[in-house]
Amino acid sequence: MQFIDLAAQQKRIRGAIEAGFRKILDHGQYILGPEIGELENVLAAYTGAPYAVSVASGTDALLMPLMVEEVGPGDAVFTTTFTFIATAEVIQLLGATPVFVDIDPETFNIDPVQLEAAIRRVQAEKKLTPRGIIPVDLFGQPASYPSIQAIADRHGLFVLEDAAQSFGASQRGKRAGTLARIAATSFFPAKPLGCYGDGGMVFTDSKAMHEQLLSIRVHGQGADKYTNVRVGINGRMDSLQAAVLLAKMTVFPEEMALRQEVASRYDRLLAGAVKVPRILEENVSAWAQYSVLHPRRDEVIRKLRAEGIPTAIYYPIPLHLQQAFTHLGYGKSDFPVAEKVAGEIFSLPMHPYLPPRDQERIASIIAGCK
Ligand SMILES: Cc1ncc(COP(=O)(O)O)c(C=O)c1O
Repeated sequence: MQFIDLAAQQKRIRGAIEAGFRKILDHGQYILGPEIGELENVLAAYTGAPYAVSVASGTDALLMPLMVEEVGPGDAVFTTTFTFIATAEVIQLLGATPVFVDIDPETFNIDPVQLEAAIRRVQAEKKLTPRGIIPVDLFGQPASYPSIQAIADRHGLFVLEDAAQSFGASQRGKRAGTLARIAATSFFPAKPLGCYGDGGMVFTDSKAMHEQLLSIRVHGQGADKYTNVRVGINGRMDSLQAAVLLAKMTVFPEEMALRQEVASRYDRLLAGAVKVPRILEENVSAWAQYSVLHPRRDEVIRKLRAEGIPTAIYYPIPLHLQQAFTHLGYGKSDFPVAEKVAGEIFSLPMHPYLPPRDQERIASIIAGCK
């Protein structure tokens, strides 16, 4: 059994991918070829975002808007401690300070009450300037944007949605990628919409942000490539990845519907045996992961592994306890909710083509772990 079955998906779209690759081999525009603009238009239309800029990875998609916002030394950017390192890494890379916040025990997303408290603490200390918030749509479920935006407005902060795991999700009818004025997503192969390498996209409603992102993507270029108006990065997505994503978008809406079915079936089969995910009424999850809690997680994982069923732990160590951030001075028990969840969480195989009989087998093994 596969944790994510990309081969089953490829079988459906192999012809379209090969046709896309052949076109690129013929025109030879490997960097910023016509597929790039085409993909940006398709994804802007899908999300409803006015502007979309394709980039080399989800990490660059987070880094580049922070560069536009001129985040740097002395600035504080608030984010969840329960996420992939990239979310906080980009803050640190620019010399600013990540300020971690605990999570909601039900959704595992940043807790708005704790967020407000953290902002007030930083303001009272007067050492750092609060600049922005990066909420993460963990496992595909959007964070609580209405509350977060109200907090951001009260304190004059920008919000950058980390939608790396939530492309295809929505909140109150709005698609992930548009839940804040700036959003970043990732096309790492295992993501709900993944390419065959690294890739990402920034979405924004701001024309000025869009223009600056285009410049930063190509080393801070001005009127042309050899006029540089700022320091940027090489943040371009290559045309071959765009061709893969264009082919995948032809089946993506159907795959999103299939993911809802797979998740609902797990919910039914696993209720009572583990703590199943809670999706808020206002949200539709993209189901990047189906993550459950069990107080004897390691035993359950061992039993599943013995039966050939793969699992993963996202995330075993919250960021405030990672060696990379020891200089920030956090310690054990600083964020008790995230620490408890990190000790009990694990993710089950999740993809649109997961057969119901496999889900039934997984559920019966877990049921035997009581
Ligand atoms: C929450 C989150 N943010 C950022 C990233 C970074 O994306 P990438 O691996 O495409 O750089 C990822 C995924 O890898 C992620 O899960």
